[in-house]
Amino acid sequence: MTKAKATDFDWPNIGFNYHDLPYSFHAEFKDGHWDEGHLTEDSTITMSEAANVLHYGQEAFEGLKAYRRKDGGVNLFRPDMNAKRMHKSAERLLMEPFPEDRFVQAVKEVVKANQDFVPPYGSGATLYVRPFLIGTGEVIGVHPANQFQFHILVTPVGPYYKGGMQPTAYVTSPYDRAAHGGTGQSKVSGNYASSLLPGSIAHEEGFSDVVYLDPRLHENIEELGGANFFGITKDGKFKTPKSPSILPSITKKSLLKLASDFGMEPEETTISIYDLDQFSEAGAMGTAAVISPVGSITHNGNKHVFYSETKVGPYTQKLYDRLSGIQDGDIKGPDGWQVDVPLD
Ligand code: PLP
Ligand code: COI
Repeated sequence: MTKAKATDFDWPNIGFNYHDLPYSFHAEFKDGHWDEGHLTEDSTITMSEAANVLHYGQEAFEGLKAYRRKDGGVNLFRPDMNAKRMHKSAERLLMEPFPEDRFVQAVKEVVKANQDFVPPYGSGATLYVRPFLIGTGEVIGVHPANQFQFHILVTPVGPYYKGGMQPTAYVTSPYDRAAHGGTGQSKVSGNYASSLLPGSIAHEEGFSDVVYLDPRLHENIEELGGANFFGITKDGKFKTPKSPSILPSITKKSLLKLASDFGMEPEETTISIYDLDQFSEAGAMGTAAVISPVGSITHNGNKHVFYSETKVGPYTQKLYDRLSGIQDGDIKGPDGWQVDVPLD
């Protein structure tokens, strides 16, 4: 593998791709306990051909970012929430969670080790951090593994949805990403495997991503392939779907608080695909997506345009400015949202 060099990157145009950086983090659970874990220059993984993850999908992952501040320092955004969510995902798949306090410490260590790859302040790029947990114990019957590996890879990224703050087009799908009572609330690879086909069909048809509908009635909006959904009502209220089969987004939780600060009376509620007229604006929200305006949703061949297909609405812009201001360290956020990464 060829390791990337910091001088390789044209930061404003890097896209959302994997680059092999100098250091990753690796820990192993064996004989009933996690080892210390360590930084490694080895970005490959060796495991048995009978490892559970290869057959029965014991895998959980997280996504967070390291942001370069104006003063040259580096912040993480609410990493304790990622640690908690990974703990829950691990429990859902009967995996041994990596301890939450060590999760945050390991994220700091791997970011510090790759600090030259945290893109410059104001470049629009960030260092994406992808912790993941896999069942490596050998199985042939359908049983949980008794050995696990926890890894963290990091890679610099730009906007996930093309254009970032440019509105893009979305489409509903006859497919579901997760079942009612399934693993939709967990950040596990199976949910994403089942989204590959509908996502690829949507891309071929020129859409940014799929809008999944609830798996029982196919009537209410669930979320997007890689982000939660929000709508702003014509009287300026922030609404986002409530469902047991969507990912509890950390960005969503943060925006619920910011929207409340703005007096937007945020609400998690059922949102019918047949009731889009109530909204003047709509958007995608997530770590990778940040906030990205949803220009339109096409359902059964009918296209519904929100604020505009080319311009960002005022509420979406206001929420983006506050959220990204906090993430970049320009605005002081609520306690615990901005976590400094000590550098040399
Ligand atoms: N929904 C899905 C399916 C996602 O993959 C993500 C990304 O993590 C989100 C929502 C947003 O979650 P978060 O804001 O915690 O990144
Ligand atoms: C994230 O936002 O961190 C995600 O995991 C979404 C993924 C589709 C890139």
